[in-house]
This record gives sequence, structure tokens and C-alpha cells, in this order.
Amino acid sequence: MQSCRLEGKVALITGGASGIGECTARVFAHHGAKLVIADIQDDLGRSVCQSIDETNCIYVHCDVTDESQVKNAVDTAVKAYGKLDIMFNNAGTAERGNPRILEYQKTDFERVMSVNVTGVFLGIKHAARTMIPARSGSIISTGSIASNTSGVSSHAYAASKHALSGLTKNAAVELGQFGIRVNCLSPYGIATPLATEVIGGNMEEVENLFNSTANLKHVTLKVEDVANAALFLASDEGRYISGHNLLIDGGFSIVNPSFQLFQYSDQP
Ligand SMILES: NC(=O)c1ccc[n+]([C@@H]2O[C@H](COP(=O)([O-])OP(=O)(O)OC[C@H]3O[C@@H](n4cnc5c(N)ncnc54)[C@H](O)[C@@H]3O)[C@@H](O)[C@H]2O)c1
Repeated sequence: MQSCRLEGKVALITGGASGIGECTARVFAHHGAKLVIADIQDDLGRSVCQSIDETNCIYVHCDVTDESQVKNAVDTAVKAYGKLDIMFNNAGTAERGNPRILEYQKTDFERVMSVNVTGVFLGIKHAARTMIPARSGSIISTGSIASNTSGVSSHAYAASKHALSGLTKNAAVELGQFGIRVNCLSPYGIATPLATEVIGGNMEEVENLFNSTANLKHVTLKVEDVANAALFLASDEGRYISGHNLLIDGGFSIVNPSFQLFQYSDQP
């Protein structure tokens, strides 16, 4: 495989201190990108930067719900590296357990919407501010299977990821005239700190749970799979793809398990 698919590119990754974002930072760096990692976990974010390459990776504290902090993260990339080619709006949150509607607190609902929707809106807005004059750019956000499948997450998480898919399409329409592509990635469950916090249990238990409910068997979805999809959309290989919600779910979203028409009874 070609090893420098992002040579000369500058990328900003929110939620880059952990999980999907951290792995994507490592993959992007491996392919030659200069990076800004933006997160609220400062110690973790700084140590990820140090372990990648301190000369080509900057950590910036950024709560994506705060517009001045998102603006500052984008400006940090432009000041340090002269431009921003790739914006990965990956920071996300969810609430522990899946409260039923009658027990659901408005403040909990709004917290999830604020990070998962407003945070992405701000990321797209401030990335576009620098990408429009350049007449190019790739904006990618992390959705979820909850962006188009129901009953797999809390109400706020489902609403937020559906909204993110719509925002992706709308922004792709507006920004296409400037040569800017806007897409989102929608993975199935992966054992990360976010998933273990929401579901409860350790990484292994959460991974086993996801494997047991997956459509595609004998393979486990990993953060690397999402990072590689982000690499494709960020690189010139994805240069004509925009407005897309790329499901990384092994077919989970298209299954209605009620009939089990094709279930082999002799499958171990
Ligand atoms: N793990 C899964 O099963 C799964 C599946 C589908 C989609 N996703 C999505 O993937 C994305 C990354 O999650 P992950 O699974 O890698 O979890 P993670 O917990 O490993 O990483 C999430 C990161 O986002 C950061 N973050 C949270 N709130 C923030 C804020 N307000 N501002 C800035 N950073 C903030 C956290 O500090 C953390 O570093 C999220 O958008 C999540 O919804 C996860």
C-alpha cells in the first residue's frame, strides 16, 4: 500500500486523545500529515502528540461546544502549518445506560446534542472559514450506526447522529461550490472508553457483546477500520466523494433480524 497518502496535508482531529480519534491521528501521521489534536483530556492528548512526533503534532485544549475554543483550534493549525486541509469532527459523547423517555432529563439530552451536533456544526463552520478561500478541503465527522438505525442507542445519541448525517449533506451542498467535500463515517460498536462507559463492563466484555450482535462474523471492528476509512475520505483517493454517510458496520444496519431466513443451523 502507498505509504504517504497525506503528504503535505494538515489535519485537525477533535476527540483525538482517545479511541477512534487517537488511532486516526497515528494513521494520518504515518501517511505524512501534520496534525493538531484537539480534546478536553489534556494530559492524554499531550502524550498522544509526544508519542506521534512533537515537531509535526500539536495538542490544543478544545471543548467543541465552545465556539471560541473551536476557532482557536482551527487558527492554531493555520498559524503553525499555514493551512487546514482536513477537519475530522470526531469528538462525541453519550450517556450511561439508555434512559427511557419518561426518566430522561432535559439537561442530559441537551448535553449530548451540544457535543455531538453543535460541536460538529462549529467544526464545519470554522474549517470552512479557512477552506473556502483555498477552494479545497475535506471535512469528515464521526456518526454512528445510530445515524440511520433505531433502538440501538439512547434517544439523544440517536437524534444527534441522525442530525449529524443531515448536517453533513446540507454542508456538502453549500461547500461543494468551493471544492470542499463533507462526509461522515458511521461505525458499528467498537470497544473504546466511550463504549465501555455507556454499556458498562471492560473492553473485552464490550467487544464480546458487539461481536455477538454483529451481522458480519469472524471479524471484529477495530478503531483502525474507522481510521482507514477516514484516510480514504481525507486523501485524494476520495476526491469526488461528498455528502456521503459511509457505514462501517458489516451490514448491521440493513438486517431485519425478525425472520432469520438465511440462518444456518449448523454454523458454530
Ligand atoms: N465506540 C463506538 O462504539 C462508536 C461507534 C460509533 C460511533 N462512535 C463515535 O466515535 C467518536 C469517537 O468516540 P470513541 O468511541 O473513539 O470514544 P473515546 O471515548 O475513545 O473518544 C472520544 C474522545 O472525545 C473527547 N471529547 C468528548 N467530549 C468532548 C468535547 N466536548 N470536546 C472535545 N473533545 C471531547 C473525549 O475526551 C475523548 O478523547 C464519537 O463521536 C462517538 O460517538 C463510537
